[in-house]
Amino acid sequence: MTTASEREPIAVIGTGYVGLVSAAGFAEMGHEVWCVDIDAEKVERLRRGQVPIYEPGLQELLVAHAGRLHFSTDLAEALAHARLLFVAVGTPPTHSGDADLSAVHAVVDAIPASRAHALVMKSTVPCGTGASLKRSFREHDKGGLAYVSCPEFLKEGAAVQDFLHPDRVVVGDDGDWAGDAVVELYAPLGAPLVRTDVASAEMIKLASNAFLATKISFINEIANVCEETGADVVEVARGMGLDGRIGPKFLQAGIGYGGSCFPKDVDALKQLAGNSGYHFQLLTAVIEVNELQKRRVIGKLKEHLGGLSGKRVALFGLAFKPNTDDMREASSLVLCGRLSAEGAAVAAYDPVAEDQARKLVSGIAFADSPLDAATDADAVILVTEWPEFMKLDWKQVALAMRGNLVIDGRNALDPDAVRRAGLLYEGIGRR
Ligand SMILES: NC(=O)c1ccc[n+]([C@@H]2O[C@H](COP(=O)([O-])OP(=O)(O)OC[C@H]3O[C@@H](n4cnc5c(N)ncnc54)[C@H](O)[C@@H]3O)[C@@H](O)[C@H]2O)c1
Repeated sequence: MTTASEREPIAVIGTGYVGLVSAAGFAEMGHEVWCVDIDAEKVERLRRGQVPIYEPGLQELLVAHAGRLHFSTDLAEALAHARLLFVAVGTPPTHSGDADLSAVHAVVDAIPASRAHALVMKSTVPCGTGASLKRSFREHDKGGLAYVSCPEFLKEGAAVQDFLHPDRVVVGDDGDWAGDAVVELYAPLGAPLVRTDVASAEMIKLASNAFLATKISFINEIANVCEETGADVVEVARGMGLDGRIGPKFLQAGIGYGGSCFPKDVDALKQLAGNSGYHFQLLTAVIEVNELQKRRVIGKLKEHLGGLSGKRVALFGLAFKPNTDDMREASSLVLCGRLSAEGAAVAAYDPVAEDQARKLVSGIAFADSPLDAATDADAVILVTEWPEFMKLDWKQVALAMRGNLVIDGRNALDPDAVRRAGLLYEGIGRR
């Protein structure tokens, strides 16, 4: 049994959702963690104990292990203390849909030649990135640097839990000391290990996200067909999900997937395939279905309200999913844009994402509570299934509204409770 002082120090480069949660997780496992970020303001806030993102359990871990966590803009400090350098910088989409690897390259360029260090890639990168980085190490006399692909599968909203209790740990490497060190690092978590080559590890991450997105678009299309045929997609998904080969997860029909990962990773895999000469037809459809799904709510509103000009619409939730303040690619962004373009007045309430939303959305009102948002509304749309919306007193909502339409964009509400309040319930693919 190793003691905390024997556990090796770790460096984490990039302190966003993945980097900060990983750093907190490694600290919880007893490691000293040296965190590096180019965002000096963020580093300063972290040093003061302020957590820049909302993620359940994260603040508690950062406070509990403050003594083991070091934050700096200086990579040299991390290099001096740690041999495993976990890279968790962003890889956002470019205009072409390919992954933008400029932050990854900036990190690689900043790391000096060394036989004592390994770059451990947590950022999601296209398959082939590891091979190309290793080529560039050799071309720049950095051939001694080891390279490991260790993709991250945590879910925002449950990121701390996922990091500490992963379904699996994937380690892609050339079978050298660095791969062994990463395997040893994760061993205490007791998760199934997939040790493989770098390219396969990179593809496992992309394929996993693409598969989950495909499941969502599939059930959304089934929901749309249910609406035409009189079936109820919630019943259909329940019946399908009990089949062990299918499983119940990611079978909730709704207004489409968003977030910082699925849209960009699905697109990146599609582009990667295209760049390699293969047309990934299925993913093209998955992406299109998702885009259309975000807009279907507008059609439902028009069906009930007629034109939307001058109508008042309340949005319950803005974040791309509950328990996060992440607004990247949230379905609410498309909704807000479309509703404003149609001349509707929008009032939105989200328990934690308002600050992030204000940076991305203009022309809507931000409310202090669901009731505040619903006041004088013709329609309410449930956009994010935050637990507090599940406990709403719909009679109070009905009293506040001037209209009576409730669109449940996540099929998460109790239709009977809404109807008992005298409101008109409309789900996605439900009778
Ligand atoms: N967010 C998720 O749920 C999730 C889950 C699994 C994998 N991933 C992948 O992990 C990676 C990081 O995602 P994220 O959501 O944490 O991103 P993020 O945007 O929240 O954080 C990235 C951080 O990297 C910092 N950074 C950028 N360039 C840097 C540099 N040269 N040196 C040091 N720091 C630098 C930024 O300032 C920022 O703090 C992405 O590739 C993403 O696809 C994300």
